[in-house]
Amino acid sequence: MVTSPKLQAQHVWKIFGDRRDAEVVAVQDLSLYVGDNEFVSLVGPSGCGKSTLLMMAAGLEPISAGDILIDGRPITGPGADRGMVFQSYTLFPWLSVEDNIRFALKKSSLPRSEQDALVREHIQLVGLNGFERAYPNQLSGGMRQRVAIARALVYKPQMLLMDEPFGALDAQTRLQMQELLLNVWQAHRTTVLFITHDVEEALLLSDRIYVMTARPGRIKAEIVVDLPRPRNLLETESDPRFAALRRQVLTLIREEAQRSVGAPMTPV
Ligand SMILES: Nc1ncnc2c1ncn2[C@@H]1O[C@H](COP(=O)(O)OP(=O)(O)OP(=O)(O)O)[C@@H](O)[C@H]1O
Ligand SMILES: [Mg+2]
Repeated sequence: MVTSPKLQAQHVWKIFGDRRDAEVVAVQDLSLYVGDNEFVSLVGPSGCGKSTLLMMAAGLEPISAGDILIDGRPITGPGADRGMVFQSYTLFPWLSVEDNIRFALKKSSLPRSEQDALVREHIQLVGLNGFERAYPNQLSGGMRQRVAIARALVYKPQMLLMDEPFGALDAQTRLQMQELLLNVWQAHRTTVLFITHDVEEALLLSDRIYVMTARPGRIKAEIVVDLPRPRNLLETESDPRFAALRRQVLTLIREEAQRSVGAPMTPV
C-alpha cells in the first residue's frame, strides 16, 4: 500500500474544442495515482486519452477540470521535476550525443566538470560509449531513443513520463530497450508513468497497470502486477502468472476496443 503518492490525478477532465468546433471529451473524471518510486503503466485503446493525460501531467496541456498533484501540490506548468520521453525522437539533430544529453543540464548550476561526469555516466548507463561525438542522423532508432532516455534521466527528475517510448522501434530493438529500461529502473528506482500499447511490455516493467476505457477515457480497471523482482524478459515471461495477467489485461482492452469500433464516430 502506498501512503504518499508522487503523482495523483483527481477527477481530471479534458475537453477539446471551442464554440465553433464540436467539443471532444478526451478524458472524463479520471483518477489515478503513482506511488513514490512506483512504475505504473497506462494502457487502453487508441484515442482513449492516454497521451492527453500525460501531456496534462507534464504541464504541457491545460486541465479542463480536476487536479493533477505532484507531492500533494497542483501542477501549474512544465517543470524540471518531470522528465519526458516521447515516441518520436526528440533530439536536436545539430547536437552530438553528448551535447544532446548535456542540454538537459543547461539550467543547472553544476560546474562544467560535474556536468561532464554526469553526461559520461549516463552515456555508459544506456550503453552508448564510443558514440559521444556522433550526431542523431548517424544513429539507429534504438540508439536515438537511448539518448532520449539518458537525457531524461541525467538531471535526475523526480519522475519520468514516457509516452510509447519504444513504439517506433523494431521488435528486436524494442526487447533490448525494455530490458535496458528494466535494468536502469531496478538499479536506480524512480517514479514512472508509462504509456504503451504493448501489454507484455507493461507487464514486464510495471508494478501496476491502469486500463483505460475507450474515449472518453476513464479508468476501467487497475491490475496489480505481483510478479517477483528483479525481473528479466526470459524468466518473467515464462512465469505462469504472466500468462494469466496477460490474458486478463488483453480481455479488458479488447472489450474497450470493440466498444470504440462499434461506437459512432461523432464527437461526444
Ligand atoms: N489538440 C487536440 N485537439 C483536439 N482533439 C484532440 C487533441 N489532442 C487529442 N485530441 C483528441 O483527444 C482524444 C484522445 O487523444 P490521445 O492522443 O490522448 O489518445 P491516445 O490514447 O494517446 O491514443 P493513441 O493510443 O492512438 O496514441 C482523441 O479523440 C483525439 O482526437
Ligand atoms: Mg497517444
